[in-house]
Amino acid sequence: MDLGIKGKTAFVLGASQGLGRAIAERLAAEGANLVLSARREDVLQELGAELTAKYGVSVQVAPSDLTDPDAVSALCVRIRDEFKPDILLNNAGGPPPSPSTGVAQELWKSSAQSLLFSIIQITEAALENMRVNKWGRILTIGSSGVLQPIPNLAVSNTIRGAMAGFSKTLAAEVAGDGITVNTILPGKIDTARVGQLDTARAGREGKTLEQVRTELAAGLPAKRYGKPEEFANVAVFLMSEPAGYVTGQMTRVDGGMIRSL
Ligand SMILES: NC(=O)c1ccc[n+]([C@@H]2O[C@H](COP(=O)([O-])OP(=O)(O)OC[C@H]3O[C@@H](n4cnc5c(N)ncnc54)[C@H](OP(=O)(O)O)[C@@H]3O)[C@@H](O)[C@H]2O)c1
Repeated sequence: MDLGIKGKTAFVLGASQGLGRAIAERLAAEGANLVLSARREDVLQELGAELTAKYGVSVQVAPSDLTDPDAVSALCVRIRDEFKPDILLNNAGGPPPSPSTGVAQELWKSSAQSLLFSIIQITEAALENMRVNKWGRILTIGSSGVLQPIPNLAVSNTIRGAMAGFSKTLAAEVAGDGITVNTILPGKIDTARVGQLDTARAGREGKTLEQVRTELAAGLPAKRYGKPEEFANVAVFLMSEPAGYVTGQMTRVDGGMIRSL
């Protein structure tokens, strides 16, 4: 299937590793030009050179720290005036594990800043060009925790729910402009983030990392973790031309992990 995004410009947040990186690569394979963002500029430069060499697409990098409101405001100026993306992948680092109480105010604030306020601001900046062109794709990486809160990930469960509310509200407001707004929910996709959470769990439960991973995989209907490429395939379809009538949705890529309808 031709995904119809060759030559479009995609702005990818959290592009330096994990899900964002896999999506950047899949977009490049479809011929989309990229703007890669995350904190580590050297990693982004290296990835950009690799993707240009492999797929012949143009790649720019725009390093930024999503917990820093000034840096995000500066990034938004570049998004409006310079990058003018057709496609936006919203993605940021996940908060550390914790119960609902006893969380430091600073952690609530920095997590809300990066996963909610910065993403809203960047989305608004990216919408400008999409509205002019009457075409746009906005996809936000959420979590299975939006539908089924994950024990001991209170900050993530809380803030991602708010982001899902924003996305759904926005979807109806911009659908008439040819812009789709969707959320994609990873279950357990094998990335560094999941490795950190599993390591923390192993420490809490006095088990080895291998034990924890084997037990968790056995509890999944698919009996295994997902691969970043499998997640990226669905994400890029949601950002494609043929997915133009899909908006306001939360799409699970979880191997059946979320038990609700
Ligand atoms: N993998 C899963 O199965 C799963 C499940 C549920 C939810 N999620 C969520 O999905 C998102 C992506 O997951 P992942 O597994 O790909 O995570 P990851 O491997 O930790 O990657 C996170 C990305 O975000 C960037 N980042 C982190 N903090 C940042 C900041 N302050 N400012 C700008 N960029 C920042 C990181 O790059 P730099 O370090 O270079 O900044 C990296 O590129 C996370 O929010 C995660 O919690 C993932």
